[in-house]
Amino acid sequence: MRLYPLLKPLLFRTDPEWAHETITAAAARAASVPGAGPLMRALFGGEHASLRTSLWGLDFPSPLGLAAGFDKNATLLPLMTRLGFGLVEVGTVTPRPQDGNPRPRLFRLPRDQALINRMGFNNLGLEQLAGRLEKFRRNASADGPQVGVNIGKNFDTPLEKATGDYLACLRGVYSLASYIAVNVSSPNTPGLRQLQTRAALEEMVRALVAERTALVSSGAPHVPMLVKLAPDVSGDELEDMARVAVENGLEGLIATNTTIAREGLRDANAGQQGGLSGRPLHHRALETVAALHRLAGDRLVIVGAGGVFDARDAYDFILAGASLVQLYTGLVYRGPGLPGRIKRGLAGFLERDGFASVSQAVGRGG
Ligand SMILES: Cc1cc2nc3c(=O)[nH]c(=O)nc-3n(C[C@H](O)[C@H](O)[C@H](O)COP(=O)(O)O)c2cc1C
Repeated sequence: MRLYPLLKPLLFRTDPEWAHETITAAAARAASVPGAGPLMRALFGGEHASLRTSLWGLDFPSPLGLAAGFDKNATLLPLMTRLGFGLVEVGTVTPRPQDGNPRPRLFRLPRDQALINRMGFNNLGLEQLAGRLEKFRRNASADGPQVGVNIGKNFDTPLEKATGDYLACLRGVYSLASYIAVNVSSPNTPGLRQLQTRAALEEMVRALVAERTALVSSGAPHVPMLVKLAPDVSGDELEDMARVAVENGLEGLIATNTTIAREGLRDANAGQQGGLSGRPLHHRALETVAALHRLAGDRLVIVGAGGVFDARDAYDFILAGASLVQLYTGLVYRGPGLPGRIKRGLAGFLERDGFASVSQAVGRGG
């Protein structure tokens, strides 16, 4: 039974941000009704032994995750658990709450199966996020998704003080996160992407790693840290970033965030300012993952994101070198049944190709 194809034409007549807020809030309420859990798991769930993935001593029920930005304030964790995600990355969170850019700031490009957003890190701030994460962890089941936290800086924090914001976020969520994603790649916070240049990234990563070392020596666990990259970087820049990550002991890289490129688009909304996600991003993101795998696949975990709409797209990321795969825009275009369908398809591809687990297939695309 697939309701989403019937609902989508109506939904797509409404404002995209209103649709996101209304539908996710209604679905979250439905997911919390007593008895809804088993029903939703039956509809959307589905466990596949070959998809269970172990990284950094953490068990991921599957390698398929919700990308950052969909659940900025960690209000949707029970719902996303029921949709069958193996990881959920909440945030981007900033130290202080902020409204983000004026609306409208999210646009659909149906002709290109894409979105453009210039949200600008609208979020309720660190304190609220930490409170929700604490509550979720108290009630979480052992076979639920791993929860990463994506951290950023406030809009009005000058770039030279950005490290302070990232450090505050790291401290605020450290004990509540399965992993931390350091976001230096959103195109919607002026100057943020300058933090990807070698010297700036190195300075920030060093400070974050030093803070982690201090936390660990005071008894906290070792929480993996990954940097999230833009697709709009040159080969040399990519090499620099991989080197900074390896040399400073980061666990991985997330590739990629949205793009500022606009090639080949047909939709009337193509001229909107912001970051482009969805189908048109897939090829570029895949190339970035493959390049990172060649550069440092034996030393870093690579997380693929960009234009995952079906199991084939997710499998292509894995073959290119990704150990985990995330999606956002695919959920808007394909609906809540998508994670379950991707997981079924992925398990099928692994079996067809003689891989007993995801890790056996990582980087085997040739
Ligand atoms: C509306 C919207 C908001 C987003 N917000 C964030 C964010 O806050 N932090 C972040 O790191 N990425 C954010 N992203 C980027 C996604 O996490 C993802 O990297 C990107 O959209 C590519 O995946 P997709 O093609 O499956 O959407 C956002 C994407 C969209 C569409």
